[in-house]
Amino acid sequence: MNLQVSFDYQLFDNELDLEASLQTLLAAAREATMLSYAPYSHFHVGAALLLSNGQIVKGSNQENASFPAGICAERVALSTASSLYPGVKIAAIGIAYHSSASADLPDNILSPCGICRQSLLEVTDRQQEKIKVILSSTSGKIILLENAAYLLPLAFSASNL
Ligand code: THU
Repeated sequence: MNLQVSFDYQLFDNELDLEASLQTLLAAAREATMLSYAPYSHFHVGAALLLSNGQIVKGSNQENASFPAGICAERVALSTASSLYPGVKIAAIGIAYHSSASADLPDNILSPCGICRQSLLEVTDRQQEKIKVILSSTSGKIILLENAAYLLPLAFSASNL
């Protein structure tokens, strides 16, 4: 039996086509890149969460000379939200980046790493509500997903334990 996993997402050439609250969220993610500590990769990532109470919580990647001790922007933001506003649901996450290493980076839309996808899934399961995801490039192209869980098909989760 052959099965398939697929999901829908939207691609925008211009972020001004996003709804206003998501544009604001993306702007917050861009601001957060300025607070990144990335002396090793020079890859500065910002994540911003829109909470159901209207608050925006920001996070940025924080690296370490012992590389595995570094943490991604998305998980900084998720942990901050859970610590400051426990039980408040997350409606959306915006992710942005810039790199000081090279001005010639390809126009890649940044998508979260595997560990961050796992963390997003945990929160989604915990709050029993989808989290929208806005992924961005440096040139203004945007991907919008309605559900962060789409990023981790056939996932391991609490239901496996
Ligand atoms: N990084 C993030 O913060 N988020 C991502 O989605 C991808 C990667 C960070 C980790 C590390 O500090 C740097 O970017 C290069 O991998």
